[in-house]
Amino acid sequence: MKRVILDTDTGVDDALAILLAMRSPELSVEAVAGVAGNAPLNHVMSNIRRVLGLLARAEYPALARGEPEPLLRPLQAAPEMHGPDGLGGVTQLHRADGSPRYPEPALPVGPQPAAELFLDLVTAYPDEITLIAVGPLTNAARAVLKDRQRMRRLKEIIVMGGAFRRYSNARVHAEFNIHVDPMAAQIVFNLGVPMTLIPLDATEQVILSRSMVEEVMREGENPLLEFARDATAYYMQAHLVQDGFEGAYMHDPLAVGVAVRPEFVQTVESVVSVETRGYHTCGMAVADLRPEGRWRRPGHIKVATGADAESFLSFFLERLKGAS
Ligand code: BDR
Ligand code: CA
Repeated sequence: MKRVILDTDTGVDDALAILLAMRSPELSVEAVAGVAGNAPLNHVMSNIRRVLGLLARAEYPALARGEPEPLLRPLQAAPEMHGPDGLGGVTQLHRADGSPRYPEPALPVGPQPAAELFLDLVTAYPDEITLIAVGPLTNAARAVLKDRQRMRRLKEIIVMGGAFRRYSNARVHAEFNIHVDPMAAQIVFNLGVPMTLIPLDATEQVILSRSMVEEVMREGENPLLEFARDATAYYMQAHLVQDGFEGAYMHDPLAVGVAVRPEFVQTVESVVSVETRGYHTCGMAVADLRPEGRWRRPGHIKVATGADAESFLSFFLERLKGAS
């Protein structure tokens, strides 16, 4: 079993990534950490608890509060995509009896900031931990700034971020997670730990539709599928307005999927750099992904260039469908 830390700015697709990780027996989720990104940190922490609350568990992973702001710039959240609560408005839904449809359970959040918890876990399990980072990389960068040598004992890092051969989503050239904290991304990319980067080039090939969720629900409803349907409604509408299709990009779930089955994506190895200063390009990630690229250098970063969308989507829905 792979020991993982899930670092998330929950977020609609982050929420689905948490559920997928928790429903994957190949993964032992040691901790879930919150970082400001799609929503301010208080919402993120509350969302993590609401999502974990959907799972009937005797034990939950350690929860850690992370960084409330990017390293060097103010937070730019994404309410237009994830709703003001970060969960597509589901925190405001109620049942017929007036109780919240997705209540926030009182799961305890540990006293340590996320960066310290990362360092402790890496010390407890050297060369064993996979960090799956599906938000801005502020928590991970903080941990590197505190103790780079200890963070080098991570086994691997899987990051959802970047866009290389396509237009991007936060700015023309900047994908959201890297755009929010470009300096943090640069610090983590330079760490030298084996890394798989899952950019929009791969994640935008994987689109969940409402009909896919409803089809699985016909075989048997469960709270996770209901949540997937409810939480993605706003997100799908936002994609319709911004991107011209009604569906949900499965950015963050794909990163978790790759932790379980690396073959869900095709990769090439490259050095990856982040523009941290450009007026128009701050937050842009740069790599040479051509097979014989002139600027290719053997590096420690595998960049996903495409995804097996069909296999991943059926895997994802099967995992959510399983007994909760
Ligand atoms: C990334 O940005 C966020 O809005 C999503 O949760 C995902 O992690 C996609 O660019
Ligand atoms: Ca995210």
